[in-house]
Amino acid sequence: MVENATVKEYPNTYRFSIEEPEKFWGKLAEENLEWYKKWDKVLDDSNKPFYKWFVGAKTNIIHNAIDRHLKTINRNKVAFIWEGEPGDVRSFSYNAVNREVTKMANIIASMGVSKGDIVTIYMPQIPELIFSMLACAKIGAAHSVVYAGFSSTALADRINDASSKLLITADGGFRRGKIVDLKSIANEAVEKSPSIEKCIVVKRTGQDVKMEVERDFWYHNLCEEPFVNNKCPTVEMDAEDMLFILYTSGTTGKPKGVIHTHGGYSLYTSTVLRMVFDLKPIDRWWCLADPGWITGHSFIVYAPLILGATTLLYEGAPTYPNPDRVWSMVDKYGINVFYTSPTAIRGFMRFGNSWVKQHDLSSLRLLGTVGEPINPAAWEWYHRVIGQEKCPIMDTWWQTETGGFMISPYPITPLKPGSATLPLFGIDADVVDEEGNSTAPGEEGILVIKKPWPGMARTIYKDDDRYKQVYWSKFEKQGWYLAGDSARRDEEGYFWVIARLDDVIKVSGYRLGTAEIESALVSFPKVAEAAVIALPHDIKGNAIHAFCILNEGTEVTTTLEKEIKDHVRHEMGPIAVPEKVNFVLSLPKTRSGKIMRRVLKAKAQGLDPGDLSTIED
Ligand code: WT7
Repeated sequence: MVENATVKEYPNTYRFSIEEPEKFWGKLAEENLEWYKKWDKVLDDSNKPFYKWFVGAKTNIIHNAIDRHLKTINRNKVAFIWEGEPGDVRSFSYNAVNREVTKMANIIASMGVSKGDIVTIYMPQIPELIFSMLACAKIGAAHSVVYAGFSSTALADRINDASSKLLITADGGFRRGKIVDLKSIANEAVEKSPSIEKCIVVKRTGQDVKMEVERDFWYHNLCEEPFVNNKCPTVEMDAEDMLFILYTSGTTGKPKGVIHTHGGYSLYTSTVLRMVFDLKPIDRWWCLADPGWITGHSFIVYAPLILGATTLLYEGAPTYPNPDRVWSMVDKYGINVFYTSPTAIRGFMRFGNSWVKQHDLSSLRLLGTVGEPINPAAWEWYHRVIGQEKCPIMDTWWQTETGGFMISPYPITPLKPGSATLPLFGIDADVVDEEGNSTAPGEEGILVIKKPWPGMARTIYKDDDRYKQVYWSKFEKQGWYLAGDSARRDEEGYFWVIARLDDVIKVSGYRLGTAEIESALVSFPKVAEAAVIALPHDIKGNAIHAFCILNEGTEVTTTLEKEIKDHVRHEMGPIAVPEKVNFVLSLPKTRSGKIMRRVLKAKAQGLDPGDLSTIED
């Protein structure tokens, strides 16, 4: 019923999924996944908002992503293809993935890691990144992948929050023809991370790196140990046991460790990938994202493997060495479904169509986008030039906290460029005003999700209160999830996501908290106070603009802006570096001392700053 829904059937299936969530999700869980032990109850809502799914069930995501395929003809099909930036290629059947994950799992276990521990992974986009995630899951440890573009400070903060004993890293990675020296950054971070006892280091680039005796071990040396090929049973987990932590930005400076679990996440991510992109074992799927973000976790690694499809991972910059790198790979590997972000699409677009035309893209049947609203020009180009007018575009709205797609078309849904269309089955989304009344068509409001779903985050690591406060306090009485976005619905109920409501900005699709950037800015000795805002940018969608008040007596030299940018790069990483640093004598603040970013923004854009009655000065 669900699988063959047509446009006409959508409302019925949707209604059923909302009215009977336990039947809806229970049936999908039974038909599409294997469980060591079935659940006693599909949904336990006795302790809201700490919902539990598939209570009493025993599973492990690895059982569905790897183990069960070994018993079928999928065993010898390609599970994943990897291409390095220099052009080296490695590919792995499901059987080979199992072999590699078993090796890595035995090694991780030999380092004293066991069920319940959290392993931090800081790696370039190489196969061992995926193997280490899967290996942790296999032995019941949780992983915390830290994006390789983050600085040593950001890495240390995340290691310390998770109290990891083990760090898995690499000597370096290739990006735009250069070596990114990850090991030096990792060394710096580990100095500030007392919990770390051991590091596994994968050799990728081969440059000289500093290895600490008795702490750091080369992965290839460990692989020589006889025990690595021993059988390694997949550990039975409760459906609700933690699979991973992923840190994401919010309103305050401290990143939030969002938690996802083995059971609900397995079901949710694989269900939405199968339904939205019609992904089947014969398909070659390319999600062009970094595995260090939720997009990569859900849709490079776990969901495509659960579906038995072939997933592609590319190490480097998408326009290196030429702007057609990605299109040459679509052609070479016969990619059927391609998924990326509006910022990447705008980045390709600016090089013109001739780079695309050199390649045969006829294998593509569906395209997708995620990360921010897609502008009409980018949508049209994607549709016309990449999809050759025959590939529907799935504009998927979702978040780190939602686990998988939430508002998105199915392949049969009539599209409107720039709209993520309608909520998926089981997702009770709405746009409401401050009081919780649904807004009229066309009217801007607050995006909420009114019912729980299996892929939802379970909490923020070690901070249940913050979880409640951030997501569930605004509409506490109603028990609704606050997504943090503003949106409107049109006459046909289509959703148009507008922007973040909180102090989160989206730069090239990356989510950054203004507070984090501001705290990096004020940690520079010459900066007394700072505020950052996002201004529109052709490629990045938004660009960061900083406003700094300098300490008394500080001179604005010609190099000061660069010094400040370098400092932010060192504190947070390249993605957080402001486009422009402005030096000001004061910042607009409310009487309670809150910086009024909207005033800065309006002024910077030459617009009317609106109501200034609460401004102090
Ligand atoms: C925020 C979540 C990379 C996985 C998703 C990003 C914005 C995401 C869309 C879309 C408009 C979108 C929202 C959301 N967003 N997808 N299709 N249309 N806005 O995960 O880093 O947790 O960011 O990204 O503002 O709240 P994330």
